[in-house]
Amino acid sequence: MRPQPDPAVLDGLDLLDPHLHASYDLTPLWRRLRATDPVRRHDRFWSVTRHADVLRVVRDPDTFTSLKGNMLRTLLRGHDPGAGRMLVVTDGPRHTALRRVLTPGFGPRTLGPVTRSITEATRDLLGALVRAGGGDFVAEVAAQVPLRAICELLGVPERDRRRVLELTAQAMLGDEGAGLEARMAQSEILLYYTRLAAERGSAPGDDVISLLVSAGLTEEEVLLNCYNLIIGGDETARLALAGGVLALATYEKEWARLRADPGLVEPATEEILRWTTPAAHVGRVATRAADVGGRRIEEGEVVALWTVSANRDETVFDDPDRFDVGRQPNRHLTFGHGPHFCLGAQLARAEIRALLAELRATVTRIEVTGPVTWLPSNFVSGVATLPVALT
Ligand code: HEM
Repeated sequence: MRPQPDPAVLDGLDLLDPHLHASYDLTPLWRRLRATDPVRRHDRFWSVTRHADVLRVVRDPDTFTSLKGNMLRTLLRGHDPGAGRMLVVTDGPRHTALRRVLTPGFGPRTLGPVTRSITEATRDLLGALVRAGGGDFVAEVAAQVPLRAICELLGVPERDRRRVLELTAQAMLGDEGAGLEARMAQSEILLYYTRLAAERGSAPGDDVISLLVSAGLTEEEVLLNCYNLIIGGDETARLALAGGVLALATYEKEWARLRADPGLVEPATEEILRWTTPAAHVGRVATRAADVGGRRIEEGEVVALWTVSANRDETVFDDPDRFDVGRQPNRHLTFGHGPHFCLGAQLARAEIRALLAELRATVTRIEVTGPVTWLPSNFVSGVATLPVALT
């Protein structure tokens, strides 16, 4: 468990500092902001912390655009390399058209086989971890399942999977330090997808790359949108899976309830999504002056919508700081809301459900056996390592 910050310093904390999020459980800070300053002005951006105000902003993309980026890092830098071409950072008719192209890739015809593959992978990986007597749940299970799911979705052939998985894992390390190895892996993976896209151009299949190529997108647009799926669906799902196991290990009574009742798998999946909130915020820029929660936001100002706080809003969730596998209703905003609602939500849910089903079938006791470390980031929120023993 991370400590909570000293109440005396809450107001002075720098929300941009990635290490703040790794070192502390910020629950008291969010509670205080929701109560006393729910739309707070910082030097370079606004923080919106209440559920209703987050909804107000994401439902109004004409006033709060994603075109300049959708996270503080790119928004404060002033530009996003995918702007206007990568689904999550497009708006208006371009967004609608692109979303229409991608949506069938997430429909039952594609998700059926992907879900079967997730179930199989989860069984194998969890089985190996149980046989080994334990290990780092992040590395051994949570990091593997989402990547396999994305390879499946993109139609990466079986023969290339191992290499693509290795390269993607290396490339992902790049966002923090952008070391040489990470950058080389990024180039190699882009090259790989370029070749795959060219192949699909002449022989399309049911996969997402074929959909993008067949819709006449340029090579660069195809690559950017493949990349959107990888960055959107890999780390987030990993954090939900690992954070879910941590919650079940911490709240033993909730794990016992879930084990006793298969009907709780669905609500427990939603509660894990609420509890872990892997995307801590989403960002927008105001295209004109607007009122949010009684404060006036001016044109051009950056707004951070802290989902991590909205998901604990006491006006929406009873006893919000309790992890409750039977919680219903559960109107969490983990996947966002409005036009940019997460395209991979069903896939992420399938990954968590597969994990819970497999844990229920094979594990009685989940124990944390060593220090848990948290990711230093103000955007992705969750555990980096989780040593566990599964009995
Ligand atoms: C959008 C979170 C899994 C693909 C989003 C958004 C959030 C989110 C908050 C909205 C961003 C915004 O409004 O600016 C998550 C979480 C996940 C997850 C927490 C796991 C627990 C996935 C997966 C995929 C995926 C598995 C695909 C493989 C996308 C895409 C968008 C998106 C393509 C953009 C949708 C659009 O702009 O229309 N996600 N996501 N996500 N997500 Fe996810």
